[in-house]
Amino acid sequence: MKKYSYHLLLVVAFCFLHTRSVTAINAQKICELKHKIGSEKFPSNFSFGVSTAAYQIEGAWNEDGKGLSIWDTFTHDHPEMIDDRSNGDIGPDSYHRFEQDLAALKELKVNFYRFSISWPRILPNGDISSKNQKGIDYYNMVINKLISNGIEPMVTMIHYDLPQALSDLGGFTNEIFIKYFRYYADTLYENFGDRVKVWVTFNEPFDYCVPGYGSCNFPPMVRASGVADYMCMETTLKAHAAAYRLYKAKYFETQGGKVGITISSRFLYSKTNDNDAVDRGMQYSLGWLAHPIFSLSGNYPYIMIEDIVSNSQKEGRAWPRLSALKSWWLNAIKGSGDFLGLNYYSSRYVEEALPPKGVVPSWDHDAHLKYDIDSKWRRAKSTWLYCVPEGLEDLLKWIRDNYNNVEVIITENGWSDEGTLDDSERIDYLKAHLQAVLNAVNSGCNVSRYTHWSLIDNFEWQRGYTEKFGLYYVNLTSENKERIPKRSAIYYKRVIETKTVIDN
Ligand code: NOJ
Repeated sequence: MKKYSYHLLLVVAFCFLHTRSVTAINAQKICELKHKIGSEKFPSNFSFGVSTAAYQIEGAWNEDGKGLSIWDTFTHDHPEMIDDRSNGDIGPDSYHRFEQDLAALKELKVNFYRFSISWPRILPNGDISSKNQKGIDYYNMVINKLISNGIEPMVTMIHYDLPQALSDLGGFTNEIFIKYFRYYADTLYENFGDRVKVWVTFNEPFDYCVPGYGSCNFPPMVRASGVADYMCMETTLKAHAAAYRLYKAKYFETQGGKVGITISSRFLYSKTNDNDAVDRGMQYSLGWLAHPIFSLSGNYPYIMIEDIVSNSQKEGRAWPRLSALKSWWLNAIKGSGDFLGLNYYSSRYVEEALPPKGVVPSWDHDAHLKYDIDSKWRRAKSTWLYCVPEGLEDLLKWIRDNYNNVEVIITENGWSDEGTLDDSERIDYLKAHLQAVLNAVNSGCNVSRYTHWSLIDNFEWQRGYTEKFGLYYVNLTSENKERIPKRSAIYYKRVIETKTVIDN
């Protein structure tokens, strides 16, 4: 027994020292990662793709029976909220120009294409009574052309563009949303599931719930922080589980595909080796949805439950703002993901903010953390995007260790600039992040795919067309809206051909 505790002590001490040294080394790096000699090649079954989203590329906002989404309403009613007062009414116009996107995809030789379906194009009112055959025909055309060109379709069911009709019912704060989403998912599986084998239910829930229902920066512009944003996350979690369970019960046997969810996350480092702050930060971000779905125990991270229950009591509330998940839901949610879709762009340093910052109540105040950057990290055009490739490697290892090495699909990763064709910074970013993925794979992380954001320059939400993430430039002012390959497109193509992180 004594010997046992001695060993335990050694293991704990080793883990502690190891984490400390990893944190210290990482602080030195800038936008590059070293190759590990002899291990530059990805496994033969690893695949590469690119990603887009319906509202950001399709245009045709009111054509062929499409209903309104909250992004149509938001950009039309509040042009002042978009940096260049633009919108997605036309944009790259992929609804009419899929052939041009396909030509780019073929040129890149991607293994798969992640795109999203516009829910109001298929079900204009959000419910199945309003089925729009023209919308279904459009996505059938996209899927069939991809497949006939050897490109696998990977579909996101909703990428921010909630049908306005459902938002009018309260959107993600009304539990009825779960039923609507389940029927929408059913429609997708039924119409496309014979050919689509990888489904992402939701894209970046934190990013539409907290600004959309908390701080009022995103549609549907609800200002109820610490309350409605928490309801939005809960509804998302339940709707995701409902769509997952539906697939397993009704479609898996005949269609045999996978269903997951895409969560955005940074990795967090501590300048003072404060592992509690790092853990708190990870649980409050990635953990909020990933813990209930992918951890062995299920449920929200313990630290969130503890804090928010106690804060709600202090605020004199009758019940906690983070509601307890009933056991039926806990079980439905736990394990409801065949893969974790990960959007990774950047990382931060973190420390506890005491006294807590942010308005009361809010996610910021509950989490009570402060974030910082390293002055050596190179910044993109986007103010939030710093190049921290080691963050991706460390994040993948964190997922491996915390979520039972679940399969991870990197569903987004990319760099913004002014749109130059000679985009050497994007190549540096891409190369370093591919190396980070490869290092993680070589360390036993179960990563199966890498998806670059984005195929083409597109509507970057509140930044309008002022920040460009594409491997292809789109001439938005010309009649034909040509897609022109940037240098990064040529680079990525060679990576895909060789499955190797080539130098240049
Ligand atoms: C993640 C979002 O999913 C995508 O829509 C957005 O364009 C990129 N981040 C870049 O900000």
